[in-house]
Amino acid sequence: MSDFVRIVEVGPRDGLQNEKQQVATADKIALIDRLSATGLRTIEATSFVSPKWVPQLADAAEVMAGIARRPGIAYPVLVPNEQGYVRALAAGASEVAVFTAASEQFNRTNTNAGIDESLQRFAPVLERARADGIAVRGYVSTVLGCPYQGEVPLADVVRVARALHAMGCHEISLGDTIGVGTPRKARAMLRAVAAEVPMAALAVHFHDTYGQALANIAACLEDGVRVVDSAVAGTGGCPYARGASGNVASEDVVYMLHGMGMDTGIDLPALADTGRWLAGVLGRGNGSKAGLAMARS
Ligand code: HMG
Ligand code: MG
Repeated sequence: MSDFVRIVEVGPRDGLQNEKQQVATADKIALIDRLSATGLRTIEATSFVSPKWVPQLADAAEVMAGIARRPGIAYPVLVPNEQGYVRALAAGASEVAVFTAASEQFNRTNTNAGIDESLQRFAPVLERARADGIAVRGYVSTVLGCPYQGEVPLADVVRVARALHAMGCHEISLGDTIGVGTPRKARAMLRAVAAEVPMAALAVHFHDTYGQALANIAACLEDGVRVVDSAVAGTGGCPYARGASGNVASEDVVYMLHGMGMDTGIDLPALADTGRWLAGVLGRGNGSKAGLAMARS
């Protein structure tokens, strides 16, 4: 098993989408440019969803136009439908991500569509992306619990992950949107999906609501997952997921991985500096324990 773990930095998108105060476009661009200098290979830059639904990211095109893209780094963006795909492409995106959920009511609240309807919405996106040579990631939310229905059957997670993969998504990110999972459950969920979708095409995406995210990641690494989503300074949350808190902090994940002898290609001090800078910009505490500890040492 490879000891390289690719971190998908979702701070500029998942991290900022739930911020109440409007973050200046220049700060979003500065965040991405700083992250680009840390050794990260994938930085989810923004999202081309409806600006009425997520006003914070209404400046997606300006952000894409303003960042200094570095060779070797992918800057995927979220798209909910074909309209979002067209906007993303016009803004110069070369990778996109579609998103749905394993639970019906959450998906309705988040996207105004049932799960199967959202999969139908993605069909033209995947068709166009194939023709355009654009890589598409697929997210499955609520894989370890839903704010509306509670428990989510594993079979529902597997069905949606398999459907996204069969449609042509090169990578499926399994999201514990409300951060309720614990290690054994996380591992059982990953195993169930990996029986149907190759492990090499899977990523894990943990929110840290109950402080379980690092433990969940460590458990899933044992099973062979090698792509981990996280957000610098532990920012984030979905505005349509009641009770969701920040993503696991990228600095904490990288500290853990390096401590386990795994490679990320990331310069941890540079990443931690960026996290402290971002906490200052947002005017609140740093959600990364490693970032706080490194500032004191
Ligand atoms: P809707 O209101 O049903 O859309 O929203 P519609 O198709 O009926 O169109 C209504 C209006 O929206 C129209 O404009 C469209 O043009 C416009 P009007 O005629 O009224 O002026 N519209 C758009 N405008 C710009 N870009 C677009 C777009 N699409 C329609 N792409 C929709 C449906 C899916 C668009 C909406 O529900 C939406 O944008 N939802 C996004 C919510 C969101 O971003 N949530 C957070 C991301 S998911 C997440 O965080 C979870 C994740 O991190 C993993 C995890 O943690 O689990 C990924
Ligand atoms: Mg998320």
